[in-house]
Amino acid sequence: QNVAVILPAAGSGRRFGQDENKLFARLAGHPIWLVAAERLRAHRRVARIVMPISDQDRPRFEGEFGSQVDTLGIELACGGAERTDSVRAGVERVADDTAVQLIAIHDAARPLVRNADLDAVFAKADQTGAAILATPVTATVKQSLDAGASCRTVDRSTLWLAQTPQVFALDVLQRAYAKHRGRPATDDAELVGRIGVQVALVPGSPDNLKITHPNDLIVAEAILKTQHESNHA
Ligand code: CTP
Ligand code: MG
Repeated sequence: QNVAVILPAAGSGRRFGQDENKLFARLAGHPIWLVAAERLRAHRRVARIVMPISDQDRPRFEGEFGSQVDTLGIELACGGAERTDSVRAGVERVADDTAVQLIAIHDAARPLVRNADLDAVFAKADQTGAAILATPVTATVKQSLDAGASCRTVDRSTLWLAQTPQVFALDVLQRAYAKHRGRPATDDAELVGRIGVQVALVPGSPDNLKITHPNDLIVAEAILKTQHESNHA
């Protein structure tokens, strides 16, 4: 057990459009964040789970969900305004843990990650120091430089969609965050790339979708059923 997980949960779920954080919405009766946390906790290599949350949500995580947080051994941390601020709080929490070899950052909004995909991305990060799950782009992608008046097709054979977990040697991620000075980044692999470290892509599964809009939850319910039937989770 030498993987520390950071499970950022400190967003507000603006695009999901409810009054509360989307992570409290139910997937087969359980809050999205809890389904995600249980999957990570079930992996044999996971030693710690640090979950950055917002000040606003803290009373619910400590009250309504306090027993689940305790049972899973989740350490709550203070998230920030941007996702990178939340991840940074998690990195600081595990920074001096000498038992940690890898840090895996996983969106609490991705509840359906498969155990076999965790195996694969952890193994790749053992070898390379930086690896992320991703899926090949299947759509035909158009680029337009004139607001849609004309377009060209982008060669999709080189394109991948980044997922999480994004997994790094502890020192790699610490160096990336030490250098990060606020220039926006949409994922942690981008920050790691900026310090000159190559990030390997590990083919994952479309099951590992991120819940962004309410429709994603409908799709996730269907995927969860197929995972139960094939016992592939
Ligand atoms: N997150 C976080 N801290 C932030 C912003 C996001 O920990 N300041 C977390 C979210 O809680 C989520 C993950 O990062 O688990 C991915 O972010 P996203 O899907 O964009 O969630 P939200 O930011 O909550 O949603 P939206 O962008 O629609 O507001
Ligand atoms: Mg967001």
